[in-house]
Amino acid sequence: MHNDIGSIVLTEEQIQAACERLGKEITKDYEGKFPLCVGILKGSVLFMGDLIKHIDTHVEMEFMDVSSYHGGTESTGEVKILKDLGVSVENRDVIIIEDILETGTTLNAIKDLLAYRKAKSIEIVTLLDKPSKRKVDIEAKYVGEKIPDDFVVGYGLDYQEKYRNLPYIGLLKEEVYTK
Ligand code: IMP
Ligand code: MG
Repeated sequence: MHNDIGSIVLTEEQIQAACERLGKEITKDYEGKFPLCVGILKGSVLFMGDLIKHIDTHVEMEFMDVSSYHGGTESTGEVKILKDLGVSVENRDVIIIEDILETGTTLNAIKDLLAYRKAKSIEIVTLLDKPSKRKVDIEAKYVGEKIPDDFVVGYGLDYQEKYRNLPYIGLLKEEVYTK
């Protein structure tokens, strides 16, 4: 598996440092609250596990799995819920946890849905941000690292469901795509 990686974008140490920094910020902002942390499956699982260890206040963990509807080439911005939350978000401070924010269509739709369900507040924490790919007006309050517009794998992020278990984030060698 490691042999398929051409270069490393974020090392394990850089990822852990980002988790620590973001965890401290969230701790400060949510002091005395009981935020509902919503991890978006499956990419956010590793990040969520490391991040919440650095949040020094009570949190509740939930997960959601969604898939985007694609009408032709443009994403419609609608999402199909494959796995819904197990609790109500009404009057809750929600923190959506994502692996990567790219076009923003998925997160925008999730945010709209949680607002419609009357969440008290909704913020986004993403490990990676590709601002150059954005199609809708959405930003994460908490960002681990901004990265250029390259396809990355590892630490939750997959290529054809593989590489999620890499402890770092990297670029695949060109030959992997043509295999
Ligand atoms: P978007 O922001 O709605 O375009 O969707 C972001 C989703 O696309 C993420 O949750 C990932 O599942 C996937 N994705 C975007 N960029 C990458 C990448 O570089 N590697 C792996 N998955 C990616
Ligand atoms: Mg994803």
